[in-house]
Amino acid sequence: MYSLFPSVSTIPLYNTNCSSSSIITTFRNNKLSPFTACTYKLKQQPSLSITTSPCHINNNNNNNSIMSKGLKSIATFPLLVHTLCFLLFPQPLLSQDVSDYVRQPARPTIVTPHQSSDSEPQQVHISLVGKDKMRVSWITEDKHTKSVVEYGTKSGKYTGKVTGDDTSYQYFFYSSGKIHNAVIGPLEPSTTYFYRCGGSGPEFSFKTPPSKLPIEFVIVGDLGQTEWTASTLQHVDSSDYDVFLLPGDLSYADSQQPLWDSFGRLVQPYASKRPWMVTEGNHEMEIFPIIYPHGFKAYNARWPMPYQESGSTSNLYYSFEVPSTHVIMLGSYTDFDAKSDQYKWLQNDLAKIDRSKTPWVIVLLHAPWYNTNDAHQGEGESMRKAMEDLLYQARVDLVFAGHVHAYERFTRIYDNKANSCGPIYVTVGDGGNREGLAMNFKDPASPLSLFREPSFGHGRLRIVDETRAYWSWHRNNDTDAVVADDIWIESLSRSKACSGTPDPKAVHEEL
Ligand SMILES: [Fe+2]
Repeated sequence: MYSLFPSVSTIPLYNTNCSSSSIITTFRNNKLSPFTACTYKLKQQPSLSITTSPCHINNNNNNNSIMSKGLKSIATFPLLVHTLCFLLFPQPLLSQDVSDYVRQPARPTIVTPHQSSDSEPQQVHISLVGKDKMRVSWITEDKHTKSVVEYGTKSGKYTGKVTGDDTSYQYFFYSSGKIHNAVIGPLEPSTTYFYRCGGSGPEFSFKTPPSKLPIEFVIVGDLGQTEWTASTLQHVDSSDYDVFLLPGDLSYADSQQPLWDSFGRLVQPYASKRPWMVTEGNHEMEIFPIIYPHGFKAYNARWPMPYQESGSTSNLYYSFEVPSTHVIMLGSYTDFDAKSDQYKWLQNDLAKIDRSKTPWVIVLLHAPWYNTNDAHQGEGESMRKAMEDLLYQARVDLVFAGHVHAYERFTRIYDNKANSCGPIYVTVGDGGNREGLAMNFKDPASPLSLFREPSFGHGRLRIVDETRAYWSWHRNNDTDAVVADDIWIESLSRSKACSGTPDPKAVHEEL
């Protein structure tokens, strides 16, 4: 059942500025006192400061130092909206993130203001288009600013210029700024380009992916925009990589459109210099009955992905290729049954992969198909039943999911059994969102689950060559990104045991 107040029964707190007796009492009652500001320190974790409040909306006292007076209204307004909407339409708005599992307290939301002129580009981010192009996306408050990107390989000297297009959207009383998109290229691989948007304003730069292996992906879902998010992004940025992959739940705006803008500004320093390839989570839906029945209005307008290039008809699922690697971004919140467009598209997309040229295939989606956490149990099951055969027959190497706010790595699996020809399943819903961590895993652990931990962090997949890849999961600490889990992986395309027509009934135990 949905609880208005977060419960914390298993959090190993050992220090607080609240009285110790009250804390003991609250633990015995399996709940935190509502509207009580306490600083908690967790063993092996940095100190957390939280104010418990209804509906998981974090109104931390520390926000005084972060949010201006005007911006506080952004945090106050959603409480009213959510309360009203909960009474009117509880199911669509609460979505799948409502259950009775225990979460670790989150850190405060960071609201990132726009502090320059209306014509200044903001929320700049880039994404791959085809093999040698990049889409530059940005927003201006000024509706007259042109959708122009100038770019070149030397700072301040722009040899290329592209005029793109623009869009905008309305969501209730919110009107978005002018959302610009321009696709630039062809671009050289492994090259740094300098660019500016709108014909003026600050210069940005990015590095293109390499033309051959190795290539490194950062993979992290359920990012949000809290102090934990900032910590995760700083850790990500501390070591180079080529492409950022996000398996859903970006801003946690949850219909509060100004928080989409805030998220765009928070991630701009990172998303403007490496391509961010995303797919949707439940927090992108923003469905409102009758008025916005199909959802994804803000997501599709703000985060256009190269779906047409892969033959998809929807921004909610697509694929793209980088050297020796085919990346498939599936949609957990659009139709996926055997008669659906997504299913047919996936079938065709997998059939087109030439594994002799593209030995690695990885898939990202939001709701995990395999999950031993108490949170979101069974939510990916219908999609697994619909699509698992396709991925298994195609010898997909890895499947990454988010949604569950923790890290978990499984062995190779097919149909709930260990199978050396099935994908490795990894959940990385640990980016730092405002809801906190999913603390409780099922006990005893399934033998299929090889590593699981409820901590914030991010993962890195380094495709070393046609045969080998190195996966590592980096737990956030305040000062260090600690490698807590790592594994070498062999591509299934090079596995003799898995070549030929696969037999789903031939289960190979590999634990
Ligand atoms: Fe989610």
